[in-house]
Amino acid sequence: MDKLVIRGGRRISGSVTASGSKNSSLPIIASTLLTGNGTFTLHRIPDLKDIKTFTQLLHHLGAETTFADNTLKVTTDKVTSILAPYELVKKMRASIYVLGPLLARFGHARVSLPGGCAFGPRPIDLHLMAMEKLGAQITIETGFIDAVAPNGKLHGAHIDFPISSVGATGNALMAAVLAEGTTTISNAAAEPEIVTLCKFLIAMGASIKGTGTTELEIEGCQSLNATEFHNVFDRIEAGTLLAAAAITGGEITVNGVEPEQLKSVLKKFVHAGCSVETTKNSVTLKSSGKLLPTNITAKPYPAFPTDMQAQWIALMTQAEGTSHITDKIYHERFNHIPELNRLGANIEIRKNQALVHGPKTLSGTKVMSTDLRASASLVLAGLVADGTTEVLRVYHLDRGYEKIEVKLKSLGADINRETYKEF
Ligand code: UD1
Repeated sequence: MDKLVIRGGRRISGSVTASGSKNSSLPIIASTLLTGNGTFTLHRIPDLKDIKTFTQLLHHLGAETTFADNTLKVTTDKVTSILAPYELVKKMRASIYVLGPLLARFGHARVSLPGGCAFGPRPIDLHLMAMEKLGAQITIETGFIDAVAPNGKLHGAHIDFPISSVGATGNALMAAVLAEGTTTISNAAAEPEIVTLCKFLIAMGASIKGTGTTELEIEGCQSLNATEFHNVFDRIEAGTLLAAAAITGGEITVNGVEPEQLKSVLKKFVHAGCSVETTKNSVTLKSSGKLLPTNITAKPYPAFPTDMQAQWIALMTQAEGTSHITDKIYHERFNHIPELNRLGANIEIRKNQALVHGPKTLSGTKVMSTDLRASASLVLAGLVADGTTEVLRVYHLDRGYEKIEVKLKSLGADINRETYKEF
């Protein structure tokens, strides 16, 4: 197994380019299942474990792919299977993204139930509700979702989501673009990843109105075509790198980004006492190392993202005073807190709120990754901790951060990947 060994106390400074977004790559890749016409060329796809798992799933269904220099080529004309097996789905919850496209193209999909995850139950009822509204008959048996469109075709419908869900909105969109008639989606997720998915589906020939809003209107079409597409940058990776500079009293320019997508996070960096400057496609952050406490509430976009909550808690361990961090999306997403406390932080959990009492001098020790963003928060803590921090089970981090230690090293961090044996 791999671990990251970090000797803390180095300033992060310099410039770096953000990688392509993992969370927008996944629905884009799933959407290639909507057509058998031509070969897709997808640029700026990050070289990550989650992407490999997803392409494995596509292979299993019969697709052909090549991947080089962050360009993924996908041909889906030979796809015949509609079965997403447990062995692949259990590796990654986002496999549920194949449900909508398979159902829309073939009129039938069998997808293993994804199960829970490290930070709560994460149900899929809204995905299923959307498919049923579009006319699918759904049965759940032997751990599989079996979805059938009567006469092989979905039909347009009104889908009103009771809560905002990125995944369910993505699935509904991918299903609706090939349904007969008009679909309207209310309370749709407006996250940049959904905007990118809409742009991609439109590039394939779909008709979607309301992109970037919570009300979407989709006019179903007969067929779609393969296309060439440039994925967006990863706003969460960018935010994490900015936090690395902020926590170490450093200075960083992250290139390739769309600052608008990071607005809520950048505002909080300013409240925390950092200076932030943006251009059309870059963010520069300067930190004196003296940080102010800030309260954040993670909520759907454009509010502060839940995927930056763990990193923010790490940052606030160095702020002078108490910060209140609330997660309204995943109430139990606090696995990083006991590990941060083992490094010397003083963080209390009260229901879905964390109280971070800072500043605390952190001292390096072995800590355990439990999920993707929790791992990122431990790396940030390691950058500022005295002595050596070893972040174990780094495979969680590898699911979502492309060459993170290479990037941090190029910015001045003392960080190395080593292999170890877990007893
Ligand atoms: C996506 C992101 C994840 C991010 C999350 C919230 C990907 C691959 N993952 O996950 O990194 O943390 O958005 O921004 O893009 N819910 C239900 N029923 C459902 C679906 C969701 O109750 O059928 C609930 C969830 O438990 C959660 C909330 O809705 O409380 C939002 O979850 P959702 O936006 O669906 O998250 P994901 O799409 O799984």
